[in-house]
Amino acid sequence: MRKDILNYQNTKATFYLGDCLNVLKQLPDNSVDLTITSPPYSDQRKNTYGGIHPNEYVKWFLPITAELLRVTKPTGTFILNIKEKVVGGERHTYVMELILEMRKQGWLWTEEFIWHKKNCYPGKWPNRFRDAWERLLQFNKNKKFNMYQDSVKVPIGDWSKTRLKNLSETDKKRDNSRVGSGFGKNVSKWVGKELVYPSNVLHMATESANKNHSATFPIGLPEWFIKLFTQEGDVVLDPFLGSGTTSVAASLLRRNSIGIEIVDKNYAIALQRFAHDTQQPIIKTTTKTIKVENGIITPSTNNSQLELLWTN
Ligand SMILES: C[S@@+](CC[C@H](N)C(=O)[O-])C[C@H]1O[C@@H](n2cnc3c(N)ncnc32)[C@H](O)[C@@H]1O
Repeated sequence: MRKDILNYQNTKATFYLGDCLNVLKQLPDNSVDLTITSPPYSDQRKNTYGGIHPNEYVKWFLPITAELLRVTKPTGTFILNIKEKVVGGERHTYVMELILEMRKQGWLWTEEFIWHKKNCYPGKWPNRFRDAWERLLQFNKNKKFNMYQDSVKVPIGDWSKTRLKNLSETDKKRDNSRVGSGFGKNVSKWVGKELVYPSNVLHMATESANKNHSATFPIGLPEWFIKLFTQEGDVVLDPFLGSGTTSVAASLLRRNSIGIEIVDKNYAIALQRFAHDTQQPIIKTTTKTIKVENGIITPSTNNSQLELLWTN
């Protein structure tokens, strides 16, 4: 197993090349504030790093979530980006089965966020429409966990200019839900507010595959959860690091990070990208010094050179 520690300002980004199940076993108990990750997809044809058979998915993933439970701090959070595939004409149930099994392990399934991929182009399928959203499942160890809601406030929006101009009598007092849900709102409380809390739907464009890796997060996705669930100096983990988006987001937000990637080529991409995106002129890994001149990485990121990068 290879390990590289890169620094950015006063944060530490630790990278491991290896199988996350083995690497996680070496991390201490209760040491991680936030795990955010997008594991390999379920794929009917493959049983490789690129995909796990849908029927095997839960069995494959549970030992990893058991380790994540152990390394997560009591105040920590686990965000899992996942979406069930269509198999044999219907949605497979592995995500639901996984949630049920993780609850048996001791996780609380606290919340579900939706990532709306707002740049999806239209398409035509015989019995369904374009799949334009993915789940971000939130799990915790305890009902009380760290959450910094003010850090993700959003502008109230233009609607408020007209809606809040002339308030009715009902708007000025708490208006309880008419369906008896127990919820209510006092519209007048929004007057003068510039920022409000967001909803649990995140509207973000997908990242084009320009990082030499086919399934990258838009950086805004880990950024949003890192701001919501951690503070500067906390520890963020991504056990399926891919091109390193989570490590970059964590460092730029002054959090420490741990990233684990099993494929050599992806590991090399993650390190190089970290050097590039944190705009460091030189990064020393355990085997190489990576030079970044005027934002350009040498050796260049074309694949054959990446493979050469790790042969010493
Ligand atoms: C969907 S991608 C993650 C993409 C990442 N979110 C990004 O922004 O680039 C999943 C990654 O997990 C890696 N992977 C698969 N099995 C693994 C394992 N057992 N341990 C560590 N990494 C693994 C794959 O090689 C792949 O790069």
